[in-house]
Amino acid sequence: MKEQLANIRQQAVAAFESAEDPAALEELRVKYLGKKGELTAVLKQMGKLPAEERPVMGQLANDVRAALEQAIETASEKLQEAALAHRLNAEALDVTIPGKTPAVGHRHPMYIALDEIKDIFVGMGFTVLDGPEVELAELNFDRLNAEEGHPSRDWSDTFYFDEDSRVMLRSQTSPMQVRAMDTMDLPIRIIAPGRVYRKDEVDATHSPMFHQVEGMVIDKGVTMGDLKGTLNLLMEQLFGEGTVTRFRPHHFPFTEPSCEMDVQCHKCGGAGCPTCKGEGWIEVLGAGMVHPNVLRMAGIDPEVYSGWAFGMGLERLAMRRFKIADLRLIFENDIRFLEQF
Ligand code: PHE
Repeated sequence: MKEQLANIRQQAVAAFESAEDPAALEELRVKYLGKKGELTAVLKQMGKLPAEERPVMGQLANDVRAALEQAIETASEKLQEAALAHRLNAEALDVTIPGKTPAVGHRHPMYIALDEIKDIFVGMGFTVLDGPEVELAELNFDRLNAEEGHPSRDWSDTFYFDEDSRVMLRSQTSPMQVRAMDTMDLPIRIIAPGRVYRKDEVDATHSPMFHQVEGMVIDKGVTMGDLKGTLNLLMEQLFGEGTVTRFRPHHFPFTEPSCEMDVQCHKCGGAGCPTCKGEGWIEVLGAGMVHPNVLRMAGIDPEVYSGWAFGMGLERLAMRRFKIADLRLIFENDIRFLEQF
């Protein structure tokens, strides 16, 4: 019996030590120490022993039980430590791995160009105005000296909302000249960017919706020289010092005299190339001295006040500013294109 106890102790301790997880350890505990366990089986034989041997064997059995319990305790602690170490290892967080940067958008290239234009004019004391895209034909045409029968009023050129052609999508930002004169105190210095609409087919340089920036100054003693000086400064700030410009005579109903402004082609320096269609110059805006009739209709005395105005196509300007070849790229909103700016 002594030998049996020694064997159990040896086997059990060895088994506990090599248990691989808590469940296996628990199974081993039952196997050796449980009610039907090996140690219990040996103890049940105690009754067969001679009376004088019982206390000695009892003592020995108790020592073995204590030793086994101790061994289980130690093995269990070891397993828990190992499990913890394993978890810490598996769940380790590497704070040095670069994170996923969220995709952040940015302004559209045309609005980058517009912000530059606004900055330049605000720096010269201009106010930036915003106005309606659904406009009265009265402001888009009549108050701008384009009376009934003027070709730009034709249904083939303009989007109207009603049969009597009174409400329309503005075909130019020039009605903002009228709105400024009707609401602001003199002198006036404004720019007014926004969308305009014309019945044009889409191609590389046309779209039924595009953007203009209107500009107007009204004060005493304003001349064509002020117009040229201001617009030359604008082009130099946008396209670099020494940018060459020219002014050609033109006609608009609401300015007199009227002109168009060209900027020398940045690609060929004026020699003529595909970008400028062989002309050496790129048209950027229409301008002129505000027509006396327009001033009079706004209640401003043309004998006392004079003014100049301009209107430029924003897409074309942005195209030149960022060397974009096709107008459609500006509207298509292809991220691969937009990301370049
Ligand atoms: N509104 C004109 C256009 O759309 C441009 C312009 C504005 C011309 C102001 C003169 C003065 O073509």
